[in-house]
Amino acid sequence: MSRHRVYVARRLPDPAMDRLRQHVDMTVWPTDELPPPREVLLREAAVSDGLLSLLTDRIDGALLDAAPRVRVVSNYAVGYDNIDVAAATSRGVVVTNTPGVLTETVADFAITLLLAVARRVVESDRYTREGRWKSWEPLLFLGQDLYGATLGLVGLGRIGTAVAKRAHGFDMRILYHDVVRREDLEHDLGLEFTSLEDLLRRSDFISVHTPLTPQTRHLISTDQFRLMKRTAVLVNTARGPIVDPDALYRALADRQIWGAGLDVFEVEPVPADHPLLRLDNIIVAPHIASASVETRTKMALMAVDNLLAALGGQRPSNFVNPDVWERRRI
Ligand code: DGY
Repeated sequence: MSRHRVYVARRLPDPAMDRLRQHVDMTVWPTDELPPPREVLLREAAVSDGLLSLLTDRIDGALLDAAPRVRVVSNYAVGYDNIDVAAATSRGVVVTNTPGVLTETVADFAITLLLAVARRVVESDRYTREGRWKSWEPLLFLGQDLYGATLGLVGLGRIGTAVAKRAHGFDMRILYHDVVRREDLEHDLGLEFTSLEDLLRRSDFISVHTPLTPQTRHLISTDQFRLMKRTAVLVNTARGPIVDPDALYRALADRQIWGAGLDVFEVEPVPADHPLLRLDNIIVAPHIASASVETRTKMALMAVDNLLAALGGQRPSNFVNPDVWERRRI
């Protein structure tokens, strides 16, 4: 029996590449730092049975129309806003993602950013390296305490919940807002459900954990920044477009809020001359919240297993569009 042909949009950790190699014929986009250009994706998809995509690859109806053999798109991410799921579903294409395995690692990074902004770690590092440190000073790099402060979680899915668990260690009061109320978690973790407006008004630290949807695009914009405390710190490890970057720039530049930590941007990579990068009250990272050796390996193996299952006629464990399976199109 001939082997399935798969296009892999970037080199993944070795254990995942080895597993794929054993089971399918694959072509891998060779450049680590850049995604395959659209024309390459179109050309490769046209001759593939499955795609292993990343959040940098736009998978839409036009691409799927040019790829009649593709039965499965396995996304190497928990988020899948790069995929037009409705277009895939209507064409009988299975879409899978990698939930669960990155939860704790992303939660760790959200806390890392909260602390780093609150305690001005990057500014202090720069200052010390530049030889500007003259003596111990009572007022040098005064920051904000996470300990005992109020944390507002915008979104209480897996990652938001994992951040809440960590926040307990800092004796924080924890508010959350989500479209779904989680009374079980309110009880277990001592969380308070509230409106977005109330959360923004009362929180010292705000961490964003919603998926990107038409409803959450620019969920945090000018009006929302106006509600925040002048001492507030905002962190986003979810998706860039949830926070309006122009509104964030104004809020930070006018010291309407105290600071921000961003792992994600509306446009990625964020251009080096972006006005946000000129401010000293923001810490930025290149979308690395899930980037630990262990987690990226687990994500890759999960993405490979999802892909191989779907190609082999087995139900993948992590469906985004289970309707396709119910219809038994593959
Ligand atoms: C995801 O999985 O959606 C992250 O943004 C990358 O790990």
